[in-house]
Parts: sequence; C-alpha cells; structure tokens
Amino acid sequence: MHFTKNITDDLIWVGANDRRLAMFEGVYSVPDGVSYNSYLLLDEKTVLFDTVDKAVSHRFFENLAFALGERKLDYLIIQHMEPDHSAVLDEVLLRYPNVKVVCNAKTKTMIDQFFDLDIDAEIVKESDTLNTGRHTLHFVMAPMVHWPEVMVTYDSTDKILFSADGFGTFGALNGAIFADEVDFNADYMNEARRYYTNIVGKYGAQVQALLNKASTLDIEMICPLHGFVWRKNLSDIISKYILWSTYQPEEQGVMIAYASVYGNTENAAEILSGMLRSKGIKTVMFDVSVTLASEIISAAFKWSHLVFASTTYNAGIFVSMEEFINDLVAHNIQNRTVAIIENGSWAATSGGLMRGKLEKCKNINILEQTVSIKSGVKSAQLNDLKAVADAIAVDFTKSETNLNPAATAAESNSKIASIDPGAMFKLSYGLFVLTAKDGEKDNGCIINTAIQITAKPLRISIAVIKANYTHDMIIKTGEFNISILSTSTPFKVFEHFGFHSGRDTDKFAGCITDNRTVNGIKYIPKYTNSVISGKVINTYDYDTHSIFVADVTESLVLSSEPSVTYQYYFDNIKPKPQPAADKKKGFVCKICGYIYEGDTLPEDFICPLCKHGAADFEPLS
Ligand code: FEO
Repeated sequence: MHFTKNITDDLIWVGANDRRLAMFEGVYSVPDGVSYNSYLLLDEKTVLFDTVDKAVSHRFFENLAFALGERKLDYLIIQHMEPDHSAVLDEVLLRYPNVKVVCNAKTKTMIDQFFDLDIDAEIVKESDTLNTGRHTLHFVMAPMVHWPEVMVTYDSTDKILFSADGFGTFGALNGAIFADEVDFNADYMNEARRYYTNIVGKYGAQVQALLNKASTLDIEMICPLHGFVWRKNLSDIISKYILWSTYQPEEQGVMIAYASVYGNTENAAEILSGMLRSKGIKTVMFDVSVTLASEIISAAFKWSHLVFASTTYNAGIFVSMEEFINDLVAHNIQNRTVAIIENGSWAATSGGLMRGKLEKCKNINILEQTVSIKSGVKSAQLNDLKAVADAIAVDFTKSETNLNPAATAAESNSKIASIDPGAMFKLSYGLFVLTAKDGEKDNGCIINTAIQITAKPLRISIAVIKANYTHDMIIKTGEFNISILSTSTPFKVFEHFGFHSGRDTDKFAGCITDNRTVNGIKYIPKYTNSVISGKVINTYDYDTHSIFVADVTESLVLSSEPSVTYQYYFDNIKPKPQPAADKKKGFVCKICGYIYEGDTLPEDFICPLCKHGAADFEPLS
C-alpha cells in the first residue's frame, strides 16, 4: 500500500524508508534506518525530483503511481547520480517512457557509466530554469556536495530548496516528514552530524560555496534527499552547517579516543579524563576498537579538543587507531588542539607516528606535553598526565574566547577585543544568603547572583560555585532559600556564611532560633528584608558554577530596609585595608578579603575562602 506525505498543496513526498540496511554505503551503521526522499511536483507539468535506492523501489513506485493518479510523468530531475537516489532510473523510464530526464552534463556522463540507456536528456547548467506552469525551477550547481555532478534546485514560486544530500540526516522518518514534528535537536541532531561529517565532511569548502549561493535565495523550506523536510527554524540546521563546513567545534570539551590491548592505555586515558573533569571540563571517551569510526569522527567534529592514546603495535600505531586516524585525516579535520598519549613496553613509537599523521591537517595545535607509558601507568606518568590536563585547561580558556562569536566578529574586523575584569564589578549585584537542607544537615553560603526571570510563572535563577557544599545539597534535593541581605548586615554575617565551608563547620551551630519556610529550609530572619523559596526545574553546567532555574514556591517580606548591593558592601561593610604599619606583602581577594602572603600570586591560585581565582585578587597596597 502506498504511503505518501503532502509537503505543500502540490508537492508530495513519494520516498521510502529502509530500516533493514545495516551499513549505509557499506561503511556507516544506520541503527535507526535511513530515508530515501523523492518528491513529486503536481504543476501543469508533473516533475519528479530524484528517485530512491533499489532496496525500497517497490514502495516508491506504489507511492509515485498513487500520487500521479491519472496524470503522466513529464519530468525527472536528477540532482545526484549516486545509486541511493538513482538506482531505479531505468525502471522509471520503463514505466513512464515519455518522461523527460533533466540533468547536467556531468550527470549525463554518469548515467551512461551506470546504465546502458539511450536517453535524450535535457542538459541544464548553472542558473538555467524550468517553468512547469505555476512554478519556476532554478538549477544551482553544487559540485562535491557530495559527488562532482550534484546540483540543487530552487523553486522560486514556493521558495523551496531541493538540496540533494545537503541538510540530510540518517534515520528513518517514522511517520513524520517535517523536522518540527520531532524533537530534532534531542533525537536527530547527532545523526545529522554523523551524516554530514562522514558523507560530506571532507568537502567543507564546497559546502561553504553552496551555503554562499543559498544565502542569496529567499528560502522558506528545505527538501533534502535523506531525513526531514525543514519548514521552521531553518537556522537550527544552517548554523550547524556553517560550523561543520568551516571545521569549527560546536562545543568546548575533550574527545578522548584510545586503543588499548590490556587496558593500560585505557587506564591512562581514563585518568586524564578524570583530571579534566576535576577541572570542570567535559569529556567523552571512545575505544576505537569497539566504536565505529563514523561515531568517533562525528564526535571529533563536535568537540574542541582531541586526545589520541594508543599502544605501540608491530613497531607502529595500534591497527584500529591507525585506521581511525587515517579516516579522520581523510575527513579533513581542522582547527583542533590535540594531545597524544603513547604506550610501548620496549619501544614506544605510536606517539610520534600519530603526531606525523595529524600534523598534515590544517591548523592542528599538537600540545608539547605528551605522555609515554612503558606498559602501565606509574607515578612519573601521573605527573605527565597532569601536565597534559593542565595544558589542555590553559588552551581551553584561549579557545573559549575564540569560540565566542563576539570575539570572532572582532577578529574579522581586525580589532583586538580586551577583557577588563573590572567591568564585571560594575554589574549591579545584590548579596544573599543561600540556604539548603539535606536530611538533618542545614547549610548556607553567600551568593551575589539571584534574579527573577519570569513573572508568570514566577521563576528565579541563581548561580552557585560548585565548590560550595550548599551547591551539592541543591543538586541532591532540588530546593533552596535565598535570604536577601539588607544594608544593616554587619561584616561578620558575610564572614560567617562566606568564609567557611559547611563541609567542616556547622554554620547554624548555637543558633537559638530555627526559622524555616514551608519547604523545611532555614532562612536568616535578621539583617534580611525578604526570603524566597525555590524549587529547581533546570540546572545548567557552566564549568566552575551551576545555574539553577527554579519555580518560586514561597516568598516573604521581613522588613522594609533596602537591599545591600555589591557596591554598598564594598563601600560601607567590607573592612578597609590595614594601616600601613601592619601591611604585609601579598595579594587580597577582592571578593572576600582573604590575604595571600607572598611576592607573586600563582596563576592557578583559588581563594580558600570564597573559591574565586587569581583574577579576583589585587596586590596589597
Ligand atoms: Fe545520498 Fe550522495 O547520496
């Protein structure tokens, strides 16, 4: 039985899904299947855009016959001659002998290579048009997206781009046809990336050329040959194509690919991953002997930093790692920072050999810090792994700036953007005691970031340093209170809640009052003008901090005193610097007043009281 879908009033999807195929093109697993899209335009003339793979030809011809009804097929536009879209060309000609094939000259050559057919095709070139009645179709050449003969077609009447392989996705359509009918970002973006990187990842420049041409067109819908039709939120997929085709990472994080025979190289990779995680850096790990290369190549295009860890095998790189790196290099990976770990019980060579292969890629920064293991990880290699983790963390900060669109824009304007931390202190913050409860344990800390986000529903957000015990309590329980401090708050309150950790002190010990909101969490009744209870609905991970978005479940006004601001705290509450006679040599934390004694402040110094970094310290004066 036919199964078609209407795209518009006169455009019908007549393609088919294949869920039995194990390996697309014999290389790429398609566990969720794949769709072969073909579209039929029912204008004064009827036009078929491409056909399908032989495996689904039966359903396709049922669909085509149903969609045509009593009408004849006038045109078959062949945008791409790869057999997953053109394998049934001969059968189309047998069933519809009067159809006119429309293609470019390269496609005609390929038709003659694949088939023994005597076709009188209408040959088109860049900017040629075909009028079919109400519609005018414009042909746009798109060589190497993904074969040299590829062209796309723009319907200027309904503003539809028939994009051939471009904007395609692995995965069967499962009854839907439009990307907005599914949760594309959650359920299909990984497959869109895996499709792009593996099928056309090598041809970024050619994809860029097509994107440039497309940017001159007014496009309201994209109809690719695989996956969903885009009629809404086109920027979701176009923005990804811009990143992928320019080999820019989508996310800051480290992809670790390892090849390990007896688990020792894996052990090193895992230790490094743990060190990076401790620094708040996201990591993903792949065993190249187990995970298919298409998955790892896709991940390499996604993440900003890559680590390759391989044992030495037959005086070379371990076989699965060598294959993977060859594949990745062939896919033209660029613009990444790379670290290398090698292992070898008597003569480790894999590191240098991996470096040699990766150096051939454009703009690959291979870190000087490397790790060479003889059999198993020993304490010397732990230090080397730490050095790699530190080097990645330093580079991470630089590349975060590079990934910042504003920085990129500034760079393109040949201006140097500067970062003055002082500007952050001009933001108008309040100051709050954030409290939480885990079982019988109460705790609280000082925060300066609490804002109302929406009124209906009433929602707030707070940002909390992960090192704080209160943070962990909120992660576990999903509930908190913020007590809004007023201008009468003495410094000892900030000292009490801000300069000690609840992990080793009970901040409410000796407290004779026990004021709690309905959620059972304590609040601060004195020196505060209000208390707000929050129930977390979303948590966002931002490296050193988490941002909690919460529904307000209760709010009480306790006094009419004005709220203390960050500026008021600095001007009126925070103790002034010591008299000159008592001055020590060192640095003072601008946040909490902690003094580090010494001539130089280590770059990676973290304030033991408020957990802010070296950037928030200033020399004692
Ligand atoms: Fe979907 Fe390049 O074929």
